[in-house]
Amino acid sequence: MVLFSGAGSNLASILEKLHKKQVRDNHECLGYEVVACITNKPDAKGISIATSHNISTVVLDHTLFESREAFDAKLLRVVQSFEPDLVVLAGFMRILTSGFTSQIKAINLHPSLLPLFKGAKAIERSFESEEHEGGVSVHYVSEELDAGSVILQESFLKSEGETLESFTQKIKTIEYKLLPLAIKKVLCGSSQPKQSQAR
Ligand code: GRF
Repeated sequence: MVLFSGAGSNLASILEKLHKKQVRDNHECLGYEVVACITNKPDAKGISIATSHNISTVVLDHTLFESREAFDAKLLRVVQSFEPDLVVLAGFMRILTSGFTSQIKAINLHPSLLPLFKGAKAIERSFESEEHEGGVSVHYVSEELDAGSVILQESFLKSEGETLESFTQKIKTIEYKLLPLAIKKVLCGSSQPKQSQAR
């Protein structure tokens, strides 16, 4: 299942590349299914993307909870009710507490070459830095923000005359490729064929 807070363009990419797709070669699972989505933002644009694929989105407005722990406890119960094989954080802008992370197998997409530029505004900070490269990471979610072990990373060189807009576009392009690959890697192993269905 997929958790998001905003535009949902990575959700769209997952749906396009993986959701209910038939096996294409011996190295993929038989099928993937996004069983449901959760958002913490009642006005997230991603909701309409899920709806257009007939996937229901549970809205858990974090502002209605008295504490981070209370929100995470509810989030945990909702996630467990769907019994997903994997939770994918695709632009889910919440720090999760150990009450959640210790119970749930989850991966997160982050727009930098971790361990560089953990946390918010990673694209801007990466662009403005002295680093010659930008990049994208997909990592396991742990109690510590953006610090779980890396599953896949891809980097690119900053161009001469790079603007924040062109830099962001390069990141988006990599994200749309890397997150589906990471999901396949986690659920099916990097190269071993598997017959089970992944949800
Ligand atoms: C992505 O850039 C991701 O790396 C970050 O949040 C953004 C989500 O974008 N964590 P979208 O909602 O998938 O369009």
